[in-house]
Amino acid sequence: MEPGDPAAVEQLFDAVAPSYDRLNDLLSLGLHRHWKRRLLSMLRPKPGEHWLDLCCGTGDLALLLARAVRPGGSVIGVDSAAAPLRCAEQRSRQESWLPLTFRKADALQTGLPDASADGVVMAYGLRNLADPARGLAEIRRVLRPGGRAGILDFNRLDPEVPAARFQRLYLRRIVVPVASAAGLQEQYAYLEKSLQRFPCGQQQEDLARSAGFKEATHHTISADQMGILMLQG
Ligand SMILES: C[S@@+](CC[C@H](N)C(=O)[O-])C[C@H]1O[C@@H](n2cnc3c(N)ncnc32)[C@H](O)[C@@H]1O
Repeated sequence: MEPGDPAAVEQLFDAVAPSYDRLNDLLSLGLHRHWKRRLLSMLRPKPGEHWLDLCCGTGDLALLLARAVRPGGSVIGVDSAAAPLRCAEQRSRQESWLPLTFRKADALQTGLPDASADGVVMAYGLRNLADPARGLAEIRRVLRPGGRAGILDFNRLDPEVPAARFQRLYLRRIVVPVASAAGLQEQYAYLEKSLQRFPCGQQQEDLARSAGFKEATHHTISADQMGILMLQG
């Protein structure tokens, strides 16, 4: 499949949803939880704040945020695919006191009001959007002036540097074979393709400034394998 085709991306994540959490833990050796916590420690969500988790998938970040903004705050998880949202809703029912709701919508056009969020997160979502620049513009639109946003994803590296060779090896020799065993070879081969069209850190900063963010700084973590774009509206 070709990255950036919204219908194909929706189909892919619907197919992957039942195995997503298990594969994520296995393929990252549980590190994705550490990267998500790191994102939130940089953003510092506070009680009483209103946050969005765009491309929320099965709800990892939405759940962490909802615990952090109590009392008085709220979190909306948004995803375009129904199956991951069902998993997220099921997980949130186990903590029914959390101020957390979910909405099926495109991250490029959430339908949420202007300047309504104190903060926005997006993990492993921007790379999947048909137009990452439009995704950043939508985040800017829903964020209140002075609000903060953080985007976690793979770091797009210069193909010649050693860290990029490691990344390719990891994606081809570990991710695809492990996913194949779960019958999801094509879905996980998509990961490398989507990374090839993903803007690098500097380009992400430039796109964010063009979208109207006052501050945009890209940080790399985990030996440059992952990136966090920190934004201020
Ligand atoms: C790799 S998963 C990441 C899920 C979650 N954020 C996490 O880190 O575990 C990407 C998610 O983005 C969603 N997605 C892709 N394109 C989207 C779009 N245009 N609008 C909303 N969600 C989208 C997919 O359905 C999928 O659940």
